[in-house]
Amino acid sequence: MKTSKKTLRTSMGMIGAIGTVTTAAMLLAGAAHAQSGPIKVGLMLPATGTYANLGTMIENGFKLYVAEQGGKLGGREIQYFKVDDESEPAKATDNVNKLIKRDQVDVLIGTVHSGVALAMAKAAKESHTLLIIPNAGADAITGPLCAKNIFRSSFSNWQPGYAMGKVAAQKGHKKAITLTWNYAAGTESTKGFQEGFESSGGKVVQALTLPFPNVEFQALLTQIASQKPDVVYSFFAGGGAVKFVKDYAAAGLNKTIPLVGPGFLTDGTLEAQGASAQGMLTTLHYADNLNTPRDNAFRLAFAKSYKQNADVYAVQGYDAAQMLSAGLKAAGGDIKNQDKVVAGIEAAQIDSPRGKFKLSAGHNPIQDQYLREVKGNLNEVRGVAIKTLADPGKGCKM
Ligand code: PHB
Repeated sequence: MKTSKKTLRTSMGMIGAIGTVTTAAMLLAGAAHAQSGPIKVGLMLPATGTYANLGTMIENGFKLYVAEQGGKLGGREIQYFKVDDESEPAKATDNVNKLIKRDQVDVLIGTVHSGVALAMAKAAKESHTLLIIPNAGADAITGPLCAKNIFRSSFSNWQPGYAMGKVAAQKGHKKAITLTWNYAAGTESTKGFQEGFESSGGKVVQALTLPFPNVEFQALLTQIASQKPDVVYSFFAGGGAVKFVKDYAAAGLNKTIPLVGPGFLTDGTLEAQGASAQGMLTTLHYADNLNTPRDNAFRLAFAKSYKQNADVYAVQGYDAAQMLSAGLKAAGGDIKNQDKVVAGIEAAQIDSPRGKFKLSAGHNPIQDQYLREVKGNLNEVRGVAIKTLADPGKGCKM
């Protein structure tokens, strides 16, 4: 049988059509898989160094929320990819690119250290990867460097510092010395303190620093002893905070010059600090005995899962997962639909163990700053230093 030209054209057309249908079906199947396969979550946190414990608490908090949702967020399984960032800014860009380029994660969760987080924010902005920061307070990230795809579940460095400045002035202190590590978190925290303190009549007479993560405090303590300010404000955290609070007490300074700070100075550190931290006042968006049904349930679940008490870092990790969940729900589980994910997070009221919060225009929590006092192994709440404090987010344009 001779095949006419017309028949041949028709069959070729049909083959072409079948090809198109097959391609479309494959694309659809791919999209369906992208919406039903696991969400790839890149955890970039410190697993070594002075902030290692903070990284663990954040990861545990995040995973607790996911476990409470049956292992899924927005109907999607979660698959983890991990990088130890060592709180090392010089390695930050390489480290974050392991998650963005090699592992092709859908969302980045990290990190603790402000210098590392600044590099993460830059990479997230360039690659349009969703980023939720579960600690690092670098003011610029929710200020001039703000972006649609970048959120924070924690605080800006300014927030607890500013609140403590107000409290210290209200206590009648006039002359303060600040002492911290010389990097974004330390300098911004002490600047926040200075702004709060000086706008209420106090004066910061000296700003002392040492490089991160050094813990050779002796010369600086000697300087404080000779200058005799009314109060000392310090930002340290993790292992560095343990050593500093102990050294301050060992030098006998806590008897005459109160040491205050953002709550990081005494959060997750009290067992190790023991007697040296007793009676210290700090300000933070969390405390150990808020005694709300929400916080009690969270603390019980955390203690059951991890055999240790929750702290602020655990809360921030837990809330990062809640924020991701809110975004995914709004997008019907489709993480690639970033406009919907972003709108979902922006609109959400997060039911945090710290108390419910919403995000500012720069994507930073608007939250109460509690005044806390160390009693035994607890940061006990003594009141609200400033209610619903929003970071000014100066220079943020989206
Ligand atoms: C920071 O680097 O932004 C930082 C680190 C540890 C804290 C708080 C802030 O506890």
